[in-house]
Amino acid sequence: MQATMSTLLQPAQKERMTAAVRVRTSCRAYAGDLAPAQTAQLAYHAGRYALPGARLRLVPLPENASTNITGCRAAVAVLVDGDSWLHRLNAGAIGEAFVLEATAMGLGTCWVGGSFRREAVRDVAAPGETLLALIAVGPPATPLTAPATRQRMAPEHLCQGNWRQWPEQLIRAATLVQQAPSGMNQQPWSLLIARGGGFAVDAPVHSALDAGIAILHAELALTTPHTWRFSDAPGAPLATAVADDRMI
Ligand SMILES: Cc1cc2nc3c(=O)[nH]c(=O)nc-3n(C[C@H](O)[C@H](O)[C@H](O)COP(=O)(O)O)c2cc1C
Repeated sequence: MQATMSTLLQPAQKERMTAAVRVRTSCRAYAGDLAPAQTAQLAYHAGRYALPGARLRLVPLPENASTNITGCRAAVAVLVDGDSWLHRLNAGAIGEAFVLEATAMGLGTCWVGGSFRREAVRDVAAPGETLLALIAVGPPATPLTAPATRQRMAPEHLCQGNWRQWPEQLIRAATLVQQAPSGMNQQPWSLLIARGGGFAVDAPVHSALDAGIAILHAELALTTPHTWRFSDAPGAPLATAVADDRMI
């Protein structure tokens, strides 16, 4: 049975990825080839993280493919069926799961949505698939270290309402979302308690890929059994985690 957003990650994966969030930054300078064992492990992660309409494929990165990344020889192609916003949201989540797994292996990663030459990787998408982005991956030129600071929205801008009173798991979710990567660092999301209850990640529908990344980071902190619901109806949050038997 295919995973859903709430069943994608087991507790051990969440723990590993949460530690990886602290040291992940976009890496644009790499030290060449992956070791064969690393390639095998990354291919395994690329195959294992899939959600409806979205999948990952580990591919060689041709030398001329990226316009601002050096020394990188591999990438994951982030692929969706057609171009539905839900598929793009799912693609953001699985791509970020891959990023955090690679980070946990000590590898550098960088989402690349714009700064690559499409003609250099035109064979990676099958008929009917859309290539949304690449994720560069490889040994970093300098070892990964947690950045001293990140340019991010303050919690009072990221979170709506009385967030200081939120349960601890939601405060942790906000801290993890705050560190998430986004295209041009736009952080096009906000967090809130939805009107009917549940913890919501809201974003414009055209930012569904970034929203999926934020949801994956939030998911790392959620311990109450829950189900994610998605909506593009006006006034409704894009994604809401609703507790299966009580309020989150
Ligand atoms: C969907 C997406 C697309 C991105 N596209 C590019 C890109 O084309 N080129 C690039 O250099 N960085 C790209 N980035 C990296 C962002 O610029 C980066 O995540 C952001 O500035 C925050 O910095 P950090 O990742 O180091 O925390 C992209 C990130 C995301 C999530």
